[in-house]
Amino acid sequence: MEIRVRAATRDDGRLWLGLFESVAVDGWLGSELPLESTKFLDGIHEWVSDLDRAVQIAEVDGLAVGWISAHLDDGAVDLGMGILEGYRGRGVGTALMTAAIEWAEQAGASRLVLEVFPHNEAAIRLYRKFRFTEIERRVGAHRRRSGEVWDGIVMARPIKIDWDGWHRDYQDPDSKISRRL
Ligand SMILES: CC(C)(COP(=O)(O)OP(=O)(O)OC[C@H]1O[C@@H](n2cnc3c(N)ncnc32)[C@H](O)[C@@H]1OP(=O)(O)O)[C@@H](O)C(=O)NCCC(=O)NCCS
Repeated sequence: MEIRVRAATRDDGRLWLGLFESVAVDGWLGSELPLESTKFLDGIHEWVSDLDRAVQIAEVDGLAVGWISAHLDDGAVDLGMGILEGYRGRGVGTALMTAAIEWAEQAGASRLVLEVFPHNEAAIRLYRKFRFTEIERRVGAHRRRSGEVWDGIVMARPIKIDWDGWHRDYQDPDSKISRRL
């Protein structure tokens, strides 16, 4: 399985919309269906031409299966991502996060931030693997179309990581990254 990450182009609006809709249907994203399609079809132009923004697309064996979006604002890069259900747990999220961190570093950011639902264990594990830590619990911040109200967890990490120090301090014995280092 070959994973390739590439920058989105102006022509990727419909592709990004399709990926976003397929992932949003599971309820893991802040945005819920139906999405405003113009936000993607017109918005992709802003995302690809604004130096403070980037969308990267992951392809597996040539098929687009996920994205990560990054927006630099006041030194912090805000991230959003999703992978098609059948392609999760195979390293695509890791490849996208690695690419986004590289982009953020080149963009001159000092830190990365994102928000995740507390029950999204797979995403939280991915973010912890990349040494994001929880900095805020936004209690009751998300009213869902179902009427439910969910918390959001804001996670952040500095761009530069002291990996030796992290390995020394890291407490999770199940982590593959901890075993690999
Ligand atoms: C969260 C998400 C982006 C992770 O992408 P992925 O391609 O599955 O991630 P990877 O295969 O690279 O796995 C990275 C780490 O995530 C964790 N992980 C992945 N799938 C997991 C699962 N089903 N359960 C628990 N942990 C999981 C593991 O810690 C894994 O680390 P390892 O490879 O060292 O074991 C993906 O599951 C997804 O798109 N989910 C739905 C959308 C979403 O939640 N977006 C984020 C909103 S904040």
